[in-house]
Amino acid sequence: MAWRTRKDGRATRRPAQRRSAAKPALVPRRVVVTAGPTREAIDPVRYLSNESSGRMGFAIAEAAARAGHRVTLIAGPVALPTPKGVRRVAVVTALEMLRATLRAFRESDALFMAAAVSDWRPARRLSGKWREKDKGSPAANLPLVRNPDILATCGHDRSRPGKLVVGFALETSGGIPRAKRKLETKGADFIVLNDERALNSPRASALILGGDGTVRRLTDRTKAEIAGVLIGLLGRP
Ligand code: CTP
Repeated sequence: MAWRTRKDGRATRRPAQRRSAAKPALVPRRVVVTAGPTREAIDPVRYLSNESSGRMGFAIAEAAARAGHRVTLIAGPVALPTPKGVRRVAVVTALEMLRATLRAFRESDALFMAAAVSDWRPARRLSGKWREKDKGSPAANLPLVRNPDILATCGHDRSRPGKLVVGFALETSGGIPRAKRKLETKGADFIVLNDERALNSPRASALILGGDGTVRRLTDRTKAEIAGVLIGLLGRP
């Protein structure tokens, strides 16, 4: 038992949980986690983005590092602090996130693709401000082009065998069949299905759908609890 002496000279027992929190994983893995939104510039002062807080991805990175894994966190623009022991790569756009993720995925054992990647980006980034308003029309069109699907790119990568790939889905309705389709189209081993109440919230409910047909339901949990369950997937062959 560990003891220390307080200023008043009385001995106290050292909290036991401090030691168990740092318990190393049996098999340390190289884990890549993406988190947060991407921003797609329209002009020097405007962009397309979304409401992702980044909390789920940061919680996964933290849980993985605490378990003793080597973690690279590829994060879009969010103000969250980098979890202890995690290597953070800051990105802004989907194309930057794609490049950083592919580089890290090559050297990794697992990918948790928790980022809310913008599906579209403006076809071109204007060098000056977008002046559509000056034309006096009540409507405007902004040409968009599709961003690459980072999860699908990694999921179907030829260097994939043996690497765990976990994707996320946020659905407002008809979630399960759409998430099941994503398992196949994106080549993921698991899809974590959330609803929009998870956005910007410290708690969430989630369904973890496996490519092997398994379904695990997590109801009203903290994101740290959900992260702990997801890190448990690393133990699976
Ligand atoms: N994803 C990605 N690259 C994209 C778009 C999405 O890697 N260009 C990943 C996300 O990180 C997430 C999963 O794919 O893991 C989400 O899939 P997506 O098809 O975007 O679904 P939703 O965000 O749930 O919503 P929607 O189908 O309405 O786009």
